[in-house]
Amino acid sequence: MEPMGELRRTHDCYSITEESLESEVTLMGWVHRRRDHGGLIFVDLRDREGITQVVFAPEVDKEAHEKAHSLRSEYVIAVRGKVRRRPEGMENPKIKTGMVEVACEELRILNTSKTPPFPLDEEKEVSENVRLKYRYIDLRRPHMQANLILRHKVCQAMREYLSQKGFLEIETPMLTRSTPEGARDYLVPSRVNPGKFYALPQSPQLYKQILMIAGMEKYFQIVRCFRDEDLRADRQPEFTQLDMEMSFIKEEDIMELIEGLMKYIFKKTLDIELDLPFPRLTYNEAMERFGTDRPDTRFGLELKDITDIGAKCGLKVFNTVAKTGGVVKAINAKEMADLSRKDLDVLTEFAQGLGAKGLAWVKIKEDSSWQSPIAKFFSQEEQKEIMERLDASPGDILFFGADQKSTVYKVLGELRLELARRRNLIPEEKVNFVWVTDFPLLEYDEDEGRFKALHHPFTAPKKEDLELLEKEPEKVRSRAYDLVLNGIEIGGGSIRIHQESIQKRVFRALNISDEEASEKFGFLLEALTYGAPPHGGIAFGLDRLVMLMARRNTIRDVIAFPKTQKAQCLMANAPASVSMAQLAELYLKPDWKREE
Ligand code: AMO
Ligand code: AMP
Repeated sequence: MEPMGELRRTHDCYSITEESLESEVTLMGWVHRRRDHGGLIFVDLRDREGITQVVFAPEVDKEAHEKAHSLRSEYVIAVRGKVRRRPEGMENPKIKTGMVEVACEELRILNTSKTPPFPLDEEKEVSENVRLKYRYIDLRRPHMQANLILRHKVCQAMREYLSQKGFLEIETPMLTRSTPEGARDYLVPSRVNPGKFYALPQSPQLYKQILMIAGMEKYFQIVRCFRDEDLRADRQPEFTQLDMEMSFIKEEDIMELIEGLMKYIFKKTLDIELDLPFPRLTYNEAMERFGTDRPDTRFGLELKDITDIGAKCGLKVFNTVAKTGGVVKAINAKEMADLSRKDLDVLTEFAQGLGAKGLAWVKIKEDSSWQSPIAKFFSQEEQKEIMERLDASPGDILFFGADQKSTVYKVLGELRLELARRRNLIPEEKVNFVWVTDFPLLEYDEDEGRFKALHHPFTAPKKEDLELLEKEPEKVRSRAYDLVLNGIEIGGGSIRIHQESIQKRVFRALNISDEEASEKFGFLLEALTYGAPPHGGIAFGLDRLVMLMARRNTIRDVIAFPKTQKAQCLMANAPASVSMAQLAELYLKPDWKREE
């Protein structure tokens, strides 16, 4: 290993082009690939910006050529030499630096490297656990660097846009108390307050509302949030939000601002022009047409209601469901009548896995007659009615779900996605934003036997529904909105309650006693009594947004150091055991065991 000595980097490995011909350059980076042709040695030198070919020839510099024999993958080197045109036939027009090479006159080996656990010069599948353990090597791969560069640019664009619009970036505490997003908290024991705990914020919700009461008017923060919940491809225990709040605004103002923000970000970072305004769906429409409140609108296969026909047909399950408050819905899978018996069995199991009792289907034959185990239960008239409603023609297959609303939505909503995946019906290049509005304020939690806030307890009810709050709470709609991109919820927010009296009524509807409310959120309730302005806001999952922009399937690919499904960092080995002394200092008993 050698010192850098007098050498000073003059260029990066992306900027060496024909314009630099004949100039002397010094590059520093990693040996991406080495080809030893005995007489000549070629090295693809890589840094964060790109790759430049370096050639070591004895007639250019004997010592450098000699030394280059010892180079291996991922050695860190400094190279001084002249830029020259590549010989004819050796050009690589696919990369910007592909017409030239650097003829090395001086080589310094700044560091060696063990053989990397996986190759970096090809984008091949590598086990994610290995990638996470050696994250510093994984992140050297050009496509991973591109993800983090995009993430940086997105954050920069957010700051630019919001600053232009008069927003202030304000930090809120990480050591705080429980916030109401409804996940489990990460707790931090307080050494100086024995037996007491901070909670890491699930979001800065309460603080940003207090900032509005404090007269800040427009706030944003790119902020870490912590939620101890079951992890999935688009969920991490710590993730980042673009969090915002504004005073003196209505839903329209926020939506307009956010549409402008998304347009700015997509143009600035991906040069994609978005059409505004984004389409809007009410929660009910979204559920009825797509079976979910985060619809992927890039393809059809929408759900259609046939409860009325189900009620009068001869099929008992449909009758019963229709007459006992349930729904019968159907999807027309266009031109998929070629699905085999086995396919149908697999799809039925898929539906049953989601809680369906069965998955009735009908294939439309050439003469428009029905091929189906349930055909005999429908009169010609009823068959025709169903065909019309579903716009069915020969070669189509119809799928039916009959059950309570929530089950049918879930089953057919997922089936819709599954069918689209099987037949590649999802145009990957599309960028389909959609707002979902008019959510119910509350939903009934069967397990806990009480109503829960669908968004969070500070969300304002619609004024015209307020009188229902005590009588028919399930009918109250909220002033919440979600932004969905290609079937993934990337953001959500609401207009907040800014009057103490209404906040107290909502707490009561949620079965939160005055005592509990004042214990948990007393400071907010009190603040509301000191001139709280009308306000509202929204928060975006930055990781999800960047994942979709980078066209990755998991947010782990756009987070520098993500955690596994078990919430572990495989590189740093966190979480880890701590010493008895540390526990004692925190007044924690080490031998406490979970009861089986
Ligand atoms: P919400 O809980 O909907 O709202 O969160 C906002 C957005 O954050 C993202 N998100 C996550 N991303 C990765 N991993 C997670 N575990 C995770 N959980 C949520 C989602 C989601 O849309 N305080 C409110 C916002 C408000 O009312 O202004 C809130 O946190 O993309
Ligand atoms: P059965 O009368 O139970 O033999 O069901 C006839 C067909 O209807 C089968 O294909 C079942 O999978 C389907 N089926 C049964 N229950 C339901 C339901 N609740 N929703 C949709 N299809 C169903």
